[in-house]
Amino acid sequence: MSTFDPGFLWGAATSSYQIEGAVAEDGRGPSIWDTFAATPGAVRGGDTGAVAADHYHRFPEDIALMSQLGLRAYRFSLAWPRIQPTGSGPVNQRGLDFYRRLTDTLLDHGIQPWPTLYHWDLPQPLEDAGGWPVRDTAERFAEYAALTHDALGDRITHWTTLNEPWCSAFLGYATGRHAPGRREPAAAVRAAHHLLLAHGLAAEAIRDDDSHVGITLNLTHVTPLTTEPADLDAARRVDGMQNRLFLDPLLRGAYPDDVLDDLREVTGTGHIQDGDLKRIGAPLDHLGINYYAPTLVAGSTAPVQSAYVGSPLVRVADGGRPKTAMGWEIDDKGLLALLLRLKADYPAVPLYITENGAAFDDVVERDGVAGVAGAVHGAVREVVHDADRIAYLDGHLRSCARAIGQGVPLKGYFVWSLLDNFEWSFGYGPRFGIVHVDYATQRRTAKDSAHWYAEVIRRGGL
Ligand code: FCB
Repeated sequence: MSTFDPGFLWGAATSSYQIEGAVAEDGRGPSIWDTFAATPGAVRGGDTGAVAADHYHRFPEDIALMSQLGLRAYRFSLAWPRIQPTGSGPVNQRGLDFYRRLTDTLLDHGIQPWPTLYHWDLPQPLEDAGGWPVRDTAERFAEYAALTHDALGDRITHWTTLNEPWCSAFLGYATGRHAPGRREPAAAVRAAHHLLLAHGLAAEAIRDDDSHVGITLNLTHVTPLTTEPADLDAARRVDGMQNRLFLDPLLRGAYPDDVLDDLREVTGTGHIQDGDLKRIGAPLDHLGINYYAPTLVAGSTAPVQSAYVGSPLVRVADGGRPKTAMGWEIDDKGLLALLLRLKADYPAVPLYITENGAAFDDVVERDGVAGVAGAVHGAVREVVHDADRIAYLDGHLRSCARAIGQGVPLKGYFVWSLLDNFEWSFGYGPRFGIVHVDYATQRRTAKDSAHWYAEVIRRGGL
């Protein structure tokens, strides 16, 4: 057990706004995250992505590190506002050139570039014109995808359209916890559809004989607190909103009827046009899954404001398991259950875990002994003994191995994240990296988990 196929794709993931910095350089336009982060109270500590991990300038060093770790693939995202600063019109050559250099450097090191076209940094002018609740944004996205594919398609084979459209729609437009910070549930439902449409249109625009096109969803394993009808209904609704609202149109070409019924009063179905579902449901070359935690839910007697639009009588319950620094419950069995459920309920498509990982309160220690592991600065070696992260990753990889053993077509795994980074509305507090970043000096230090992961890759398993 726990030996993976030799072709299994071992990688690590990041995203543009979370690591690049250089937000005003080389013609990049503002994104909704620049605007949101500048809004008082939106991000903890007033943190912004203005500098982040300075990857824009340090990518050669970061890629050298990836190479030392033996990564086979690197999942990153392309910042739309670097490539098309206003979200429409001509490309910004300097923005494209950055991704050309990045991609070429990866290829020089034998690391497969695995870009995502959209990881939440919408050009601000498109939000000013209405954002994702407006259908035109989907058309603009397809245009951006086509331009980018034209420019980089000679060196990139695997494309992901969107990262976690659930977050873009429901955290961006319903709870307002993410950019653009709107609290308009009906708009959020329209946003979800237009994001799916954007995926469909973009996939159509970039698919050719050399391109594999997929999408990444944040899926969860939902269980009811008890078998009481209210809890069962809560589980149906949360599974509906977070999993099936996206999986069904993508993999079966239709929205789930029960979810449409739940949403009918919120926003109707007028925004869904003839032909949309055919486009959204065109065959995928791969499906990316981001998995962090399971979701235990219960019915509520009083209305609860949540991301589960149309389902006010639903609350998330505590399963009593140990938690990460995000307060997310640790449950690798949830990942196994999710993968087996995908196999049972949906047509087979190559699957990749495109994010999995954990934030913990890491401590940098200096042990004064120079050695091969850890970063050596002068005579002092800095180390981060993140045994909790190793245990998390180990458990989830075991679930991956079990799923593969039971016939799940899982082809790769990307740890979130390569580097500590800007964790959205939580700012720089939570550290998800297998590589520690000292934000004051931008010094990188491989944590124990990075060395452990390198060994897993080297052996091809646990
Ligand atoms: C996911 C995001 C990613 C990161 C992790 C912790 O929802 O895709 O950018 O923030 O959570």
